[in-house]
Amino acid sequence: MPGTSPESFTVAVVGATGAVGRTMIQVLLEKRLPMTSLRLLASSRSAGRTVAVEGWGDITVELAVPESFEGVDIALFSAGGGTSKELAPEAAKRGCTVIDNSSAWRMDPSVPLVVSQVNPDDLEWHEGIIANPNCSTMQLMPPLMALRDAVGIERMVVDTYQAVAGTGHKAIVELEEQVKAHAEGREKVANVYPHVIGFNALPHIDVFLDNGYTKEEWKVVTESRKILHLPDLRVSCTAVRVPVFVSHSEAVHVETRNPISPARARELFAATEGVVVQDDPANDVYPLAMEAAGSDLVFVGRVRQDPSIPDGRGLAFWVVSDNLRKGAASNAVEIAEVLVARGLVRKASERALVAAPGGRPA
Ligand SMILES: NC(=O)c1ccc[n+]([C@@H]2O[C@H](COP(=O)([O-])OP(=O)(O)OC[C@H]3O[C@@H](n4cnc5c(N)ncnc54)[C@H](OP(=O)(O)O)[C@@H]3O)[C@@H](O)[C@H]2O)c1
Repeated sequence: MPGTSPESFTVAVVGATGAVGRTMIQVLLEKRLPMTSLRLLASSRSAGRTVAVEGWGDITVELAVPESFEGVDIALFSAGGGTSKELAPEAAKRGCTVIDNSSAWRMDPSVPLVVSQVNPDDLEWHEGIIANPNCSTMQLMPPLMALRDAVGIERMVVDTYQAVAGTGHKAIVELEEQVKAHAEGREKVANVYPHVIGFNALPHIDVFLDNGYTKEEWKVVTESRKILHLPDLRVSCTAVRVPVFVSHSEAVHVETRNPISPARARELFAATEGVVVQDDPANDVYPLAMEAAGSDLVFVGRVRQDPSIPDGRGLAFWVVSDNLRKGAASNAVEIAEVLVARGLVRKASERALVAAPGGRPA
C-alpha cells in the first residue's frame, strides 16, 4: 500500500517475476517499508505482464533498462549476475541505491556485503551498490557472529543440504515433475541439473573451480571472511543439492579460540537477533527445512561438543533457514530498513557533500 510516512521511497524490484523477486515483493509488503511507488522490472520475456500486488492492484512489469532507475530511491536486484553487472552501476549513477542478490558485486572491496544483524555498520560506506550474501553463507553468519564475539573462531567446516528453490523457479517445477513421474512410473527427465534431483543428492552446486571446490562452496569461504571481518578464518565447505523445495540445512563444525560448552553456545545463539534454538533431541526437536520455510528466522539445534578438537574448543551444530527469505529477500529488505532508519539511503559521498559546508542541499 502506498506509504504515508514523512519519508517515503520509490522502490524497484528487478527480477520481480522470479522466485526471489516474488518473495521480495511479499516481504516489502509484510515489513511495510515506506513506499510511495513500487516498480516491477524484468526481461522482455515478462515485460507487459501484470502482477497483482496486495494493496497496490495490478502492476505492469516493465523492461529493465538503465532509464528504468530514474527517480528510483532503492532497487532490489534479483535477476542474475549479468543483469546486475550491467544495470546496477547504471542505477547507482542515477542516484538509486541497489541491494543486489547476485554474486556480481559481493567480493568487490568497494561494495559492502551485509547481513542485516551482523555487520549493518558496513552500510555506512556504500557508494550506491550493496551486496546481499549467498543464501548458504547468510544463515551461518548470525550464529557464527555470536561465537566470534564470545570466544573467537579459528576454523569452520560446513556441509550444506540445499533446497532446489536456490536455483530458481524452474528447479522447483522440475523437482515437482520428477516426483510426479516417479509416482506414475514414468522416466524422470533432468533439464536444470546435470542429473535427476528427485530422490537424489548432488554434490555439485554452481560451477567447478580449478581447486576442486565448486563456486558455491568457495562463496561460503570468501563471503564468511568478509562479513565477519575475519580475513584469515580457515573455512572448508561441501555444498550438496537435495530434493527439498525450500530451506537450506547445514552441518557446521567450528573450532573456537577459547573453550565453550554446548550449553553456553545455546545461550549465545538464543540471545542473537533473528536466531531461534530448537534443541531437544530426546523429544525429536531440532531444526527442520519444512518447518523453517516461510520464516525469516535462522534455526539452530543439535548443538554438541566436537571431541575431535582438543580443550573443549570444538562445537558441532545444525543450522536451517528459508533460503528465499532470510537467505535472499528478507535480508535485502532488512538492509533497506536499516538504510531508511539510519538515513543512509543515499551513497556515502553524496551524504558527505550534503553534510559539508556549502554542500548540495539534501
Ligand atoms: N533462489 C535463491 O535462493 C537465491 C538466493 C540468493 C540469491 N539468489 C540470486 O537471485 C537471482 C535470481 O534468482 P531466482 O532464484 O529468483 O531466479 P529465477 O526464479 O530464475 O528468476 C529470475 C528473474 O530474473 C529476471 N531476469 C532474467 N534475465 C533478466 C534480464 N536480462 N533483465 C531483467 N530481468 C531478468 C527474470 O525475468 P523474466 O520473467 O523476464 O525471465 C526473473 O524475474 C540470481 O542471481 C540468484 O543467484 C537466489
